[in-house]
Amino acid sequence: MMLIMTRKGNYVLLCTLGGAISNMYAMLIARFKMFPEVKEKGMAAVPRLIAFTSEHSHFSLKKGAAALGIGTDSVILIKCDER
Ligand SMILES: Cc1ncc(COP(=O)(O)O)c(C=O)c1O
Repeated sequence: MMLIMTRKGNYVLLCTLGGAISNMYAMLIARFKMFPEVKEKGMAAVPRLIAFTSEHSHFSLKKGAAALGIGTDSVILIKCDER
């Protein structure tokens, strides 16, 4: 479940079933917020996108990147210390 703020400042509650699809929606929404033209023009209209995430993040982020046309090589896993 995610709470999303729209461009007009309204909030939308998005209910999803499962963590993987929620992660993909989050990537989709972040991409649309930064590059709304992707909706009509596709990935060719946006610069190469890179997702930085913890090395401990769930592998579904890579699956989401694959499904969204971002590519699994564009998901950069950041090393973390014990904290
Ligand atoms: C952070 C995180 N993301 C995604 C998932 C995948 O969830 P699901 O199997 O419900 O798609 C999990 C599952 O444990 C998770 O912990």
